Amino acid sequence: MDSILVRGGAELNGRIPIAGAKNACLALMPATLLTEEPLTLTNAPRLSDISTMALLLESLGVDVATRDDGRELALASHGLSGHRADYEIVRRMRASILVLGPLLAREGRAVVSLPGGCAIGARPVDLHQMAMEALGAELELRDGYLHAHAPQGLRGAGIDFPIVSVGATENALMAATLARGTTVIRNAAREPEIVDLAQCLRRMGAQIEGEGTSTITIEGVERLTGATHPVVIDRIELGSYMIAPAITGGRVECLGGARALVANFADKLEEAGIRVEETADGLATHRTGERVRAVHVITEPYPGFPTDLQAQMMALLATADGVSILEERIFENRFMHAPELARMGADIEVHGGTATVRGVPRLRGAPVMATDLRASVSLVLAGLGAEGETRVARVYHLDRGYETVEQKLRACGADIERIRET
Ligand code: UD1
Repeated sequence: MDSILVRGGAELNGRIPIAGAKNACLALMPATLLTEEPLTLTNAPRLSDISTMALLLESLGVDVATRDDGRELALASHGLSGHRADYEIVRRMRASILVLGPLLAREGRAVVSLPGGCAIGARPVDLHQMAMEALGAELELRDGYLHAHAPQGLRGAGIDFPIVSVGATENALMAATLARGTTVIRNAAREPEIVDLAQCLRRMGAQIEGEGTSTITIEGVERLTGATHPVVIDRIELGSYMIAPAITGGRVECLGGARALVANFADKLEEAGIRVEETADGLATHRTGERVRAVHVITEPYPGFPTDLQAQMMALLATADGVSILEERIFENRFMHAPELARMGADIEVHGGTATVRGVPRLRGAPVMATDLRASVSLVLAGLGAEGETRVARVYHLDRGYETVEQKLRACGADIERIRET
């Protein structure tokens, strides 16, 4: 298994191109199942999670071709050959559940493996199930698989989510585009990835209003058509690289970045003493003082502080002047990076969903282990600012969500390399 070796201490200066959003692309790809015509996604990120979704779609009979060096995905679901999402693929990636809604809408049936637990918590799929039932599908759990049927087709309905779920909102949105009548999703997720999906579906002929607010209304249509759609910028990759110079010193400009995508996060960075500048090509950040200031962070659904940037923020606050509090309100077990950061000298105490971080002047390099995608990038970031060498093991997590991370950072002056192991 590959690892990443970082020798800390170098200031970062330069420009980093930000890719299309993994999480948007993972929802856009299954939308191909809603139409027989081709769906082309441009600005796609080149990541292993995207290949996993491609594999899953291929197993259902979708033609997947990549062009423009992997940046363009041409998807065509002329005739589907299956409606079963197998455990072998689903267990690798939870987002596989996103084929449920489109398959039900198009085929009237779907069999999707339960994703199982993951490192950051139990992450059930009851809300996905509830949404499909509201649209008239019958679901049954058998042998670890959700068996869903809608023999009469789906019909529009009110879907009231008890808590905000990005994935369940996406499944409901896709399924409702082909349901008979009107669907109103209340307490919908408002993430930019939901807005991107709605825009793509509208290009395909769907009738949708209200995306980006907590009430989305969908008027079902007979059929959808093909379309070409550019994937929105990855706000989590953007936020991760905005933190890098805040840790190391220097100034990095993230190309394609927009403040609107990370408004709450950018405000928090400014509170911590990081200057966030809007430039002609994106967003640039640099630290204004010798050390950052301690802040209080609470993760919440969009437009709140994203849970997917909590680990990176903790890496930054590990060397802040003062005591920071991070409250994780989305996932119950998302502090696995804390003991790894502690191996590097961070002073972090975790009680339930709250981490108290007492800033130390400097971290020291150490061998550490990535436990999930965002945790792994937080360890790389911490290593960039630490004294000495940090070796981050299990970087396959990193490759799920960050394109060529070592190249992007090296181009800005980081001393970082990938150690390939067979
Ligand atoms: C998506 C993102 C992930 C991000 C998360 C929260 C993708 C591919 N992944 O994940 O990176 O961290 O949003 O912003 O887009 N829940 C239930 N029942 C369900 C579904 C969810 O209880 O059926 C709970 C979850 O356990 C969690 C909360 O709802 O506590 C929010 O999860 P959700 O928004 O669904 O996350 P994902 O869509 O899985």
